[in-house]
Amino acid sequence: MAKTLLICGGAGFIGSNFIRWLLANSDVSVVNYDALTYAGNLENLSDLESDPRYTFVHGDIRDAAALNKTVGEQDFDGIINFAAETHVDRSISGPAIFVDTNVSGTLALLECARAHGIRRFLQISTDEVYGTLGRDGTFTEHSQLRPNSPYAASKTSADLMVRAYHHTYGMDTVITRCSNNYGPRQFPEKLIPLMILNALDDEPLPVYGDGENVRDWIHVDDHCSAVWAVYCNANAGEVYNIGADGEQANMDVVRAILQILGKSERLIRFVADRPGHDFRYSVDASALRSNLGWQPRHSFEAGLRSTIEWYRANADWCAHVRSGAYREYYRQHYKL
Ligand SMILES: NC(=O)c1ccc[n+]([C@@H]2O[C@H](COP(=O)([O-])OP(=O)(O)OC[C@H]3O[C@@H](n4cnc5c(N)ncnc54)[C@H](O)[C@@H]3O)[C@@H](O)[C@H]2O)c1
Repeated sequence: MAKTLLICGGAGFIGSNFIRWLLANSDVSVVNYDALTYAGNLENLSDLESDPRYTFVHGDIRDAAALNKTVGEQDFDGIINFAAETHVDRSISGPAIFVDTNVSGTLALLECARAHGIRRFLQISTDEVYGTLGRDGTFTEHSQLRPNSPYAASKTSADLMVRAYHHTYGMDTVITRCSNNYGPRQFPEKLIPLMILNALDDEPLPVYGDGENVRDWIHVDDHCSAVWAVYCNANAGEVYNIGADGEQANMDVVRAILQILGKSERLIRFVADRPGHDFRYSVDASALRSNLGWQPRHSFEAGLRSTIEWYRANADWCAHVRSGAYREYYRQHYKL
């Protein structure tokens, strides 16, 4: 019989792309459990509503009773947890919700998985747990955990709790630590969609500091295929880095977006740097490639072009996510 998975946080950017990818590339069914915070958007999944293999449940991962009800109603093969507060800037201005959701929420989910004897628990983590790099070096799964932002600290704490559940209770847990994602349906507080949407509207493009910080980019579909490879084939207790050798300085990303859109670099505004801004991330995903045979499919150049096309072709989605107080919030945040 085909498996059913509980996907937590499936209405966000990566979770919604993962559900779409999974329904297209496997015969599993999915229950999407999501609290619909400002970052959760059911429009991200509107094309899947009529798929009999897809169900949505409105729920919070911190709510043990609601979780137990949902998990008790079906025979789930596993849980994949994408649900989180995810924006570093918001974690700087308000860290408490990050501990609540990312740490206490993950704990509630682990407890529920343990109580119901769920076969496998996959925690979606981030390369930011490793902290920052200088000009050289790369993060392996054995790098020290040295989170620098409240967001990264909360994700690291969750990873340690997942590890503890494996070692203490013998639970089958796995963790993935991915680099920066880009692609369709990303909330425009993150660098790439923020720059695309501002450029499309001829609004200023705020760049932190001197723009020389380096991020390691991966197309969201490559993240999705990697998560599925880990879910299906990793050994219990393992951690896998996910990355696609996509290092780029922020300024180069911004310039590439302007160039593809045919817009002037005069739109760029350098703004005060993010406090404690990590300089560089670089992920070594060779274990994933050699142990599980995974390969990314998207080059950064082609992936960026197709991503820009998606935002251009989905003006209604863009208008919806930028409605209400969105523009004013970001003008004030960047002091533009
Ligand atoms: N975006 C990246 O570049 C990136 C890179 C590596 C890892 N990650 C990790 O991937 C995961 C998904 O990231 P994203 O960018 O899609 O995030 P996102 O902010 O777009 O979506 C988060 C989703 O979680 C839901 N959520 C938040 N709190 C919840 C709660 N208490 N209960 C249930 N649902 C809740 C939101 O409604 C939203 O749908 C996160 O765990 C993040 O740490 C993200």
